[in-house]
Amino acid sequence: MLEGKRILLIVGGGIAAYKCLELIRRLRERGAAVRCILTEAGGQFVTPLSLSALSGDKVYGELFSLTDEAEMGHIQLSRDADLLVVAPATADLLARMAAGLANDLATTALLATDKAVLAAPAMNVRMWWHPATQRNMTRLREDGVAFVGPNEGDMACGEYGPGRMAEPAEILAAIESLLGAGGPLAGRRAIVTSGPTHEPIDPVRYIANRSSGKQGHAIAGALARLGAETVLVSGPTHEPTPRGVRLVPVETAAEMLAACEAALPADIAICAAAVADWRVANAGAGKMKKVEGVLPTLSLVENPDILARLSRRPEGRPALVVGFAAETDDLIGNARAKLTRKGCDWIMANDVGPASGTFGGERNQVHLLTRDGVEDWPAGSKAEIAERLARRIAAALGATPQGGGRP
Ligand code: CTP
Repeated sequence: MLEGKRILLIVGGGIAAYKCLELIRRLRERGAAVRCILTEAGGQFVTPLSLSALSGDKVYGELFSLTDEAEMGHIQLSRDADLLVVAPATADLLARMAAGLANDLATTALLATDKAVLAAPAMNVRMWWHPATQRNMTRLREDGVAFVGPNEGDMACGEYGPGRMAEPAEILAAIESLLGAGGPLAGRRAIVTSGPTHEPIDPVRYIANRSSGKQGHAIAGALARLGAETVLVSGPTHEPTPRGVRLVPVETAAEMLAACEAALPADIAICAAAVADWRVANAGAGKMKKVEGVLPTLSLVENPDILARLSRRPEGRPALVVGFAAETDDLIGNARAKLTRKGCDWIMANDVGPASGTFGGERNQVHLLTRDGVEDWPAGSKAEIAERLARRIAAALGATPQGGGRP
């Protein structure tokens, strides 16, 4: 069910636009509120009247409509929704999204949103396979846009191949999975830190580490799939943003802490980032020049410990705070000490010795330390570990009321 969910449906200019009428009907049957933006090209295929009759709401179209702006600004329009759905997503609309253009109400709303975006591409098969479209798809996937379809089949233009828009039932299923509708973490809020931090030495140099962000990103995706409203606070990585997750990109530990605090309140906080323990106290405002025979001295100061800060908040502490312990020796002993020292509820202990291949690798072997004991988890891919952790969290929180005490 999608009870109480708000969908902003952006209808682009393709022959498949008629399928949106059926989609709106099905969304409303499931309890979702649907508001439509009709692009100028979309208006050639369906009328504002049919969209508004089915959605039971006004249809938005012009960027510079004074009455619309007075009633609801375009920023508000995209923020008010839980999910933006672009269907049909034409080659032109995808290109404008990929380029970050904001030259009509649809693209302005897409650029202004901080919510997940699902697109259902629909176009001629040659347009679909054109390198420009494929390049735009890659870029949009990297930006975290989720896709459903296109399907293969006969096209309105008489050709055959991929390019047909997904059917309303498929789009509906993608919407339900993105919104984690009915998932065990629906209604919960989660913050996940991921990746390394970069601590500047001067404007061009920085201190960093080898964290890839794979594990943290996978955890954020797994929590979102179970229905948690998930904010991913990540240092610089090459990992794509998981579907349905809101990314807050940061560079330094200080920025990471501020972003986490801004994302509160939350029920769950998972600190998977490899935060630099120190930053440079005397970071230069200008580039440090090398002087023959003179070695610069970097003096370091300690960074805030984000895990400890979140765990020890006097007010508004998340019900469940989970940290990672990356150790090369005495894994369980060190992890247990870290649990106590940082004040968190659980620690995911993993061996990062050179032989483990954990850093930057695909696989991971972890032991979950709770206050009650140690669970040795079987080795698995980082995605499998993430799934397991998300389910374990759902089970632990299942017994506590939302916004309630510790599990
Ligand atoms: N962490 C954090 N902020 C920091 C340092 C660490 O939030 N400034 C979090 C990490 O995200 C991880 C946990 O603390 O969840 C453990 O980090 P780790 O680097 O393993 O431990 P340290 O506290 O740095 O201790 P040590 O270097 O002794 O292992």
